[in-house]
Amino acid sequence: MPISSVFSPYSPLAGAITNLFTIALVIGAVVFLVVTGLVIYFSVRYHRRRGQEGEPPQGGSHRGIEIVWTAIPVLIVATLFVLSLRTAVAANPPMAGAQPDLIVIGHQWWWEVRYPKTGIITANEVHIPAGQRLLLQLQSADVIHDWWVPNLGRKLDLNPDFPTQTWIEADKPGIYLGACSEYCGAEHAWMRIRVIADPPDQFNAWQQAQLHVPAAPAGGDAARGAQVFAQNTCVACHAVAGSPAQARVGPDLTHLASRQTIGAGVLDNSPQNLARWIKDPQAVKPGSYMPSLHLSDADVNAIAAYLESLK
Ligand code: CUA
Repeated sequence: MPISSVFSPYSPLAGAITNLFTIALVIGAVVFLVVTGLVIYFSVRYHRRRGQEGEPPQGGSHRGIEIVWTAIPVLIVATLFVLSLRTAVAANPPMAGAQPDLIVIGHQWWWEVRYPKTGIITANEVHIPAGQRLLLQLQSADVIHDWWVPNLGRKLDLNPDFPTQTWIEADKPGIYLGACSEYCGAEHAWMRIRVIADPPDQFNAWQQAQLHVPAAPAGGDAARGAQVFAQNTCVACHAVAGSPAQARVGPDLTHLASRQTIGAGVLDNSPQNLARWIKDPQAVKPGSYMPSLHLSDADVNAIAAYLESLK
């Protein structure tokens, strides 16, 4: 069951933010109730009476009250300032000189995910070992995007000109949902993030599987699909390790079948959905940079069979 809420932190980094958010929300709610209550009280208590002439009498200054209503807001703002500083440090601990464990590159409208220490390249689904803090480097291939997985930590922009860094960590195994949170064009809303925190042994198994170079399909629909794939412009954008397709414009498809969704979260990854997507990407995700190739149904199904063989 995927999780996504700012009120349920699953890492100390997110916990610090949730605490501050809750405190600010409570203080804000109390201020709102007190101010609204006083406005209503005074409107009723001192409204203009029938037959009353001119302005009601105004009171003079009252030093005591003035000091109190100045001191309270100053105290509230000062408290929030100190708490914000402490939260900023707790949510974003120093990272001097550390090498990134993970590089996420924003594209219109999907996420490229690279593990520089192993060479794994994938897309849209970020596997991490639960209970471990990883240094995440964020960068963009085109416009500004914004990384945000509320349960795991702070949000941070992905810039085309310079990389930014933050930590990523999940206390417990699970699927944590996020999304791009900086408007980046037509399909901004379909730029979903799925962080999959695996128990450490499962994470290692996942890494081994990702590093495995798939053999060319031996026969059947999948083999024909590999041919159709290689003869069309698919290879101008995508990479499949161990095949002639080595382009880096679109998502790496080497282990597409191991992913839960396609199109950066727009569809569940099933053979039917994959065929629908290949047949007419513009109907599924309008504005996406994947064109419709006007393939026959037989070719579409063959490509889907090929890609679904890439576990
Ligand atoms: Cu990427 Cu919004």
